[in-house]
Amino acid sequence: MATVSLHSHSFLLVLFPVILILRHNLAVAGGCQLPPVIFNFGDSNSDTGGLVAGLGYSIVLPYGRSFFRRSTGRLSDGRLVIDFLCQSLNTSLLNPYLDSLVGSKFQNGANFAIVGSSTLPRYVPFALNIQLMQFLHFKSRALELASTSDPLKEMLISDSGFRHALYMIDIGQNDIADSFSKGLSYSRVVKLIPNVISEIKSAIKILYDEGGRKFWVHNTGPLGCLPQKLSMVHSKAFDKHGCLASYNAAAKLFNEGLDHMCRELRTELKEANIVYVDIYAIKYDLIANSNNYAFEKPLMACCGYGGPPYNYNVNITCGNGGFKSCEEGSRFISWDGIHYTETANAIVAMKVLSMQYSTPPTPFHFFCGG
Ligand SMILES: *[C@@H]1O[C@H](CO)[C@@H](O)[C@H](O)[C@H]1NC(C)=O
Ligand SMILES: *[C@@H]1O[C@H](CO)[C@@H](O)[C@H](O)[C@H]1NC(C)=O
Repeated sequence: MATVSLHSHSFLLVLFPVILILRHNLAVAGGCQLPPVIFNFGDSNSDTGGLVAGLGYSIVLPYGRSFFRRSTGRLSDGRLVIDFLCQSLNTSLLNPYLDSLVGSKFQNGANFAIVGSSTLPRYVPFALNIQLMQFLHFKSRALELASTSDPLKEMLISDSGFRHALYMIDIGQNDIADSFSKGLSYSRVVKLIPNVISEIKSAIKILYDEGGRKFWVHNTGPLGCLPQKLSMVHSKAFDKHGCLASYNAAAKLFNEGLDHMCRELRTELKEANIVYVDIYAIKYDLIANSNNYAFEKPLMACCGYGGPPYNYNVNITCGNGGFKSCEEGSRFISWDGIHYTETANAIVAMKVLSMQYSTPPTPFHFFCGG
């Protein structure tokens, strides 16, 4: 569990039903038999402080204001989906692999996700391939240390820990977004998608060859609904909820490919459990039915500049000179124009845990027994 308590009153009011439902699901689902071990690979959607630790970038308040009360390097006002997933297992929040000051032995795993990461090109920090190489290094070092007589060796992840661990992957959004921002046409962007999928496929295969058996793959969200994209793209063809149709169409094609790839791998890797989670459907529902969740302006950022409709200005972004942030982040889906608020993340996590968006339907704690 996080060591920081929750103070925000308005936040509690909105989240109270969510928390009740989470509790209920867990009580039904039962607990973990083995201590959970999770390795996560991805981008800002699941970076718990890796960019800041790795490159020394500064991410300042109001990032973190709603939960941690300080910036932790997460791109949100509070917790990310992965934080809520960890909390559902009663395990501590996942530490960034690159954070040398956390004083952690990484007993519950490590987070390799870094803000801005894509799958391609392969040898640029922190592409998926680099994150994977970091994991391989981490693993061999942990096993090497565990074989010494160091009194701390019990605290390191064992070979069996690596085999029983959950391997999570949430990447691809930046591959698509970067292609569009380079000015590529929709058809050119779409042509690149198979290469991205094949990077993810090869990552899963490498982890499988290393002994990993449990995989949890998030698809990508509706890119065309991000205030940043909406404010920066000029020729606009909107879908019925005001999102950029071509961006969302590309995201959906990517997701179809990812789903298909997961199905192939289930046949190819006989002992693998691969769960595919439809994050797109969850996030799009938040936007399409924002009233049901007490969100006010689903396409407007809480923290940014410029006011309606999107409150995003590329020169005055959240945390940088002249920005403004809304009073109640819990009324917004978008925190800074690109990333979701803690409240939105909590709802996304609750839906991920519901199993309704998972193929095959699988409880999140399936990998830790019980
Ligand atoms: C987490 O803790 C709660 C309350 O103690 C318990 O009911 C639940 O089963 C635990 N969950 C897991 C996955 O261990
Ligand atoms: C951002 O700054 C650049 C360079 O000064 C300028 O050309 C552009 O119009 C600005 N964009 C916005 C949205 O203010």
